[in-house]
Amino acid sequence: YTIEWDAQGAQKGGYASFMAKEIHEQASAVADTLRGRIEDGKLQLDEMKIDEAVLRTIDKIVVVACGTAANAGAVVKYAIEHWCRIPVEVELAHEFRYRDPVVTEKTLVVAISQSGETMDTLMAVRHAQEQGAKVVAICNTRGSTIPREADAALYLHVGPEIAVASTKAYLGQIAACFLLGLFLAQVRGNLYPDEIAQQMEDLSAIPEKIQEVLDSSDQVERLALEMKDATSVLFLGRHVGYPTAMEGALKLKEIAYIHAEGFAAGELKHGPIALVDEGQPVFVIVPSPGGRDSLHSKVVSNIQEVRARGARTLVIAEEGDEAVLPYADEVIRYPRTRALFAPLLTVIPLQIFSCELATAKGLDVDQPRNLAKSVTVE
Ligand code: G6P
Repeated sequence: YTIEWDAQGAQKGGYASFMAKEIHEQASAVADTLRGRIEDGKLQLDEMKIDEAVLRTIDKIVVVACGTAANAGAVVKYAIEHWCRIPVEVELAHEFRYRDPVVTEKTLVVAISQSGETMDTLMAVRHAQEQGAKVVAICNTRGSTIPREADAALYLHVGPEIAVASTKAYLGQIAACFLLGLFLAQVRGNLYPDEIAQQMEDLSAIPEKIQEVLDSSDQVERLALEMKDATSVLFLGRHVGYPTAMEGALKLKEIAYIHAEGFAAGELKHGPIALVDEGQPVFVIVPSPGGRDSLHSKVVSNIQEVRARGARTLVIAEEGDEAVLPYADEVIRYPRTRALFAPLLTVIPLQIFSCELATAKGLDVDQPRNLAKSVTVE
């Protein structure tokens, strides 16, 4: 008589994959990233071991990263530029390293890497330091190479991420970079203390909103089953919805092996709309109707444009946004938050969609073909 005991299955905590488990851990993951860093509405970043006098002289930020981490960088560019009025460039680490980039002692390089071991990102860090730049590492794995070599390290504290495709670390990276941006705004005096406190309060409310999105995942799970045989899926977004579209497409490529592309919705008419024909699934990430007025209506027009050409429109829209209803085949709702924080919510249905679709196809969700969790070669 033997008892069947599957060690891996036990670690997955009842989920079909580590990826599914990690997706469903995201509310506590983001809470863990924020924990201890917001005290009585004040931002405490003791790990920012770069002299505040130096931080005040910074005239440019360059984010270097690869894969999902680069998409996190693309999201936070919007926030840091808005709050700190410092130009932020986001560059794939392997491109940055080989093009003689303009980096000086007044450049702050932000290296985002879940593993802290990605060789391309490490090389970019070394290159930046040789030019006299200061480097902040945003990493998850304690004691890994990139945070050890950087001038300061902010850890995500989201716990180990096992699945090759990154989910909870992605949210942790975005949250940690928001903290960095608000810290810079605090040090440099770009925002009043009460504005920073207000932002922090709204950020602290994000984990429970993440949980709301996770609790209403049935709809996306059903869609994933329906769309199991899709051969191409497009993702559109504007502003912070653009990197979210890129990340949604990346997830689908990585684990479901489906051709997927993310676009800036405004770019549609300059080319991608030619791809749209009868039945083409298109996810559209819609900003809050309460945000910058023109942005919301522009995205609604983009939904209308692809729908008119036969697309099946899968629309991710804020709760109560009625303007999307006439053009949406499906509306996936997310709770209201600040425009800049919405990427912490809107990407979740896209992660679930890819995970469920790949599972339905019988693929190895956690270990997709040809990919490695940490790429330690150039
Ligand atoms: C690999 C992984 C991706 C990850 C990227 C960057 O390509 O498959 O999931 O986003 O590396 O990894 P890092 O550890 O630097 O965040």
